[in-house]
Amino acid sequence: MFAVYASKPNLDDPLAAVVVGERPEPKVTEGWVRVKVSHASLNRHDLFTLRGITAHDEPISYPMILGNDGAGVLDDGTEIVIYPVMGSSDWRGDETLDPDWHIFSERVQGTFADFVAVPRRNAIPRPAGISALDASVMGTAWLTAYRALFTKSNLGPGETLLVQGASGGMSTALIQLGRAAGYEVWATSRTAEGRELAEKLGAHRTFGSNEQLPRKVEAIVDSVGPASWPHSMASIGRGGTIVITGGTTGLEASLPLLPMLAEQITVCGSIMGTMQDMQNMLGFIVAAQIKPEIGQVVPMDCAREALRAMWEGRTHGKTVFTR
Ligand SMILES: NC(=O)c1ccc[n+]([C@@H]2O[C@H](COP(=O)([O-])OP(=O)(O)OC[C@H]3O[C@@H](n4cnc5c(N)ncnc54)[C@H](OP(=O)(O)O)[C@@H]3O)[C@@H](O)[C@H]2O)c1
Repeated sequence: MFAVYASKPNLDDPLAAVVVGERPEPKVTEGWVRVKVSHASLNRHDLFTLRGITAHDEPISYPMILGNDGAGVLDDGTEIVIYPVMGSSDWRGDETLDPDWHIFSERVQGTFADFVAVPRRNAIPRPAGISALDASVMGTAWLTAYRALFTKSNLGPGETLLVQGASGGMSTALIQLGRAAGYEVWATSRTAEGRELAEKLGAHRTFGSNEQLPRKVEAIVDSVGPASWPHSMASIGRGGTIVITGGTTGLEASLPLLPMLAEQITVCGSIMGTMQDMQNMLGFIVAAQIKPEIGQVVPMDCAREALRAMWEGRTHGKTVFTR
């Protein structure tokens, strides 16, 4: 079948590891189902897979088909959206706390292909009111944004959320979700285009990256990493919460302990979301009539150029591949 995959990891030149070609169809074992992929969305995680970077202890086994997220049709005709978090079959409770949790393109083949095999519970019937295109972006960046905002940020109604970065998949999700939920939404961006996009999506105020804010805020979601970390620490108010959801500019930063204890700041990490988060988010998207910001829709054959755009920081919102 057609697939976009990593032949072997290449840390410094991930685009050299991309192959647009043919891979065997997935074997569908007991308890799993086959999805004919119609739409699959790009994530920064795809660059990690190409580079050989994983959050888990065991290395990725190559060749590995890329893609964490997608929507499509089961063999029985059911239209579905994929919940990306998998784990041990006997785990109960928060899926992201399962020591065995993983997502597509880590231990099992990903969604950038004609077909992907998924555990039956991960194939969620697509709700009426959300298209396959929009549903295909819900799995990773949007799910993470949803949980960071509604489970981790401790934000109360009308309080202020600062989103570090404006143009990306997760940032645009945070802005759209935060605005729909009634928060005061502020965002930073490196570019005028990023700020413009944030305002178009509902941000009340925007700032240049690392620009001093007019006042401190109650919660910050930071996926940028070291480039924004000192600004996040300087911008969080007394008793506020910083949720770390990524490290686009790196994964090391220093933690100033005195303001943390004196100002009683909570710093927490957040990764992906539960099945319940995913179901709740789909319901919220439909009820609030949110149209996720999708910057580009291209045939999957064009994956290499889209991966290059993400590597060079030229994407905005989500990129979706169609099949
Ligand atoms: N915790 C999780 O479960 C989870 C899930 C999904 C993603 N992530 C992580 O979250 C991060 C963001 O993911 P994404 O899908 O939103 O990525 P993306 O679409 O590529 O967006 C990158 C974001 O970073 C900002 N940025 C600031 N400085 C940057 C720089 N020097 N280079 C590139 N971008 C810069 C951009 O904002 P401006 O261009 O407006 O400045 C943009 O909002 C990644 O590190 C990803 O791995 C984590």
